[in-house]
Amino acid sequence: MKKTILVTGGLGYIGSHTVVALQEQNVNVIVVDNLSNSIKEVARRITAITGIPVKLHIVDITDALALDAVFQQETIDGVIHFAAHKAVGESVRQPFKYYRNNIDGMITLQQVMQQNNVKTMVFSSSCTVYGDTRRSPIDETHPVTEAISPYGTTKLVCEQILKDLCKHGGFKGVILRYFNPVGAHSSACIGELPLGVPDNLVPYITQTAAGIREKLTVFGNDYDTPDGTNIRDYIHVVDLAKAHVKALDFAFGMQQNCEVFNLGAGKGYSVLDVIKAFEKVSGKELAYVIGARRAGDVEQIWADASKAEQLLNWTCQHDLDEMMETAWKWQMALTGC
Ligand code: UD1
Repeated sequence: MKKTILVTGGLGYIGSHTVVALQEQNVNVIVVDNLSNSIKEVARRITAITGIPVKLHIVDITDALALDAVFQQETIDGVIHFAAHKAVGESVRQPFKYYRNNIDGMITLQQVMQQNNVKTMVFSSSCTVYGDTRRSPIDETHPVTEAISPYGTTKLVCEQILKDLCKHGGFKGVILRYFNPVGAHSSACIGELPLGVPDNLVPYITQTAAGIREKLTVFGNDYDTPDGTNIRDYIHVVDLAKAHVKALDFAFGMQQNCEVFNLGAGKGYSVLDVIKAFEKVSGKELAYVIGARRAGDVEQIWADASKAEQLLNWTCQHDLDEMMETAWKWQMALTGC
């Protein structure tokens, strides 16, 4: 039977790609978004891709009454929960903004779910919960004892709350720990929309190439890695979105339980590798300088994503070149939408 899924933060970067993936699999989607880091226009663009209207409720998930009204109006089978602040640096400067929004949001959402007897959740977490790791690849059994930022703390606390509810409250939960999502939908209708100066590498690269930023600063080339720059596991956002559809099916098939999955490509690329891939696919030379290390950066981290491959039957289909190609196409908005 056709399922109805509530997607919080469904107009955001990963949320919007996931709504497309769900609609393409004939899932009925209800989006809740407070537009704090997205725009309403994204709903129209999703429809331009899939041909299916987006049922949108502009609601803040920390508002229990408004959220409950959505659950009363719709018949919801499960929830994919993205809505959260996500800037690591900002979380260090404004921790309470993060605790209030991300943790309150999770608690309110789960309470409203429980009141309405909806007990299946896929939760958007991050590899940041692994902290300052030295050994990669990292699998899901790696300890998650201390977060490196308040943002990371909120992910850890929310994971723990979901695990509690799975153990004691009859919930079924899937926790997805993303590595570094980049790229955009091949239509260039949706992608990452950073507000102001981007914190993340790929939007900074594409904005520099587009002439919006003067030059990229590579944060350190004196790390103990082959070219001295940090290594990350970059994953195409469309691959990541598809993993959510599989995770949801998996969650519905579970007994009362909670499972954790890493979502990464299982390969590490340095900052310079990413720049080279971008230059190759765009045909543009990128203006960049080597600067100081950024506080809080982990030297190198990439995923062992074999659990997702085995249990979700999911693997990445897009390589680094395609990530850069679609990110650049999105930046240049090469196709009308
Ligand atoms: C971090 C988290 C990730 C989280 C994300 C949210 C870790 C290991 N990863 O990603 O889980 O979802 O934040 O924002 O904690 N870089 C530059 N110059 C720039 C920008 C970035 O050299 O202008 C470098 C960084 O030093 C890093 C790499 O590019 O080595 C990727 O950085 P970024 O895109 O910000 O993501 P992470 O910090 O890895």
